[in-house]
Amino acid sequence: MHKEFISFVKETYNTDDFIPLHAPVFIGNEKKYLNDCIDSTFVSSVGKFVDQFEEEMKRFTGAKYAIATVNGTAALHIALLMTGVEQNDEVITQPLTFIATANALSYIGAHPVFVDVDRDTLGLSPEKLEDFLSKNTEIINGQCINKTSKRRIKAVVPMHTFGLPLRIKELVTVCDKYNLDVVEDAAESLGSYCNDRHTGTFGLLGTFSFNGNKTITTGGGGMIVTNDEKLAKKAKHITTTAKIPHRWDFEHDMIAYNYRLPNINAALGCAQMEKLPLFLEKKRNLAKKYQTFFENTSFTFITEPDKTTANYWLNAIILENLEERDNFLKETNDNGIMTRPIWKLMNSLVMFKNAQTSNLENSQWFEERVINIPSSVII
Ligand SMILES: Cc1ncc(COP(=O)(O)O)c(C=O)c1O
Repeated sequence: MHKEFISFVKETYNTDDFIPLHAPVFIGNEKKYLNDCIDSTFVSSVGKFVDQFEEEMKRFTGAKYAIATVNGTAALHIALLMTGVEQNDEVITQPLTFIATANALSYIGAHPVFVDVDRDTLGLSPEKLEDFLSKNTEIINGQCINKTSKRRIKAVVPMHTFGLPLRIKELVTVCDKYNLDVVEDAAESLGSYCNDRHTGTFGLLGTFSFNGNKTITTGGGGMIVTNDEKLAKKAKHITTTAKIPHRWDFEHDMIAYNYRLPNINAALGCAQMEKLPLFLEKKRNLAKKYQTFFENTSFTFITEPDKTTANYWLNAIILENLEERDNFLKETNDNGIMTRPIWKLMNSLVMFKNAQTSNLENSQWFEERVINIPSSVII
């Protein structure tokens, strides 16, 4: 089976060279727009491509406001600040995520609480969240207080794993009941929808990443989206050093961040956005091929949950157990096919080992079995 997989991937990508997990594809106006930046000298923090990229993201996601940032982690950091998370608050997230989700809340001095994911979505489970909140919290003066730590729980950060949409509508309903703001980590889910609504637009704020390994890339970059005008203005202000616009004066009205996306990165983003529909179509085709290949094998290819459209950013399979997983990783990587296990659970990392958790049976089950397989767009 391993050998058949290796041959299948080489055939699919039509190469005997090393096959990475996810390489970017530049087949559009990237060089033209980068040259525009260089010719205009606007390569840095202001320029027309930043505004254009934000407009494109608004149009594509349907969000009313979009604020470009230097990367997805910065976007998460600021989005959490916008909800009013403060030092010593708690933020609930899933243990099965990339480190940036847990890092961003830690930058504020908040503490993570890890609640389990669903088996069909790999994303934060509305039922598990409700169960955790009903047993472990009480509402005091409108605030959700953790009965064990006595700390305020201020926000919840669900993450759409590998672009598979989680049950975000139900999750937001649970959070509303407990006065918790939702920041959707949609770093991996550009082009993924629940029914017809784009992921990242269900919470108070949503964030995206355009790192080199994402569906589209700006080299490095991120975006905050929201429908809240006040928060959008505040997010723009705080990501741009809180400078009060003036032709020559340098006045800043708070301690803020230089989290601006440079124009040269936004130029890349504008060119990539033009190709996004094509990339999504190609990724869907590749996922279908994998799905057919894995039918009637002992491996399970993970497909989009019901009533959702996934972008199939990183394709993933479930193996039978840890031993199978490790054999598969070794054999594929030894043969020039990059595969990678899902992340180690956040609560097993040294920084978060004392964090409170719910029962994490699903996350632990996935941790031992899930592998990502090559997912680059094939042109
Ligand atoms: C789930 C998740 N959150 C946040 C990020 C952070 O994005 P960035 O690398 O752009 O900082 C990433 C990706 O890198 C991610 O996969």
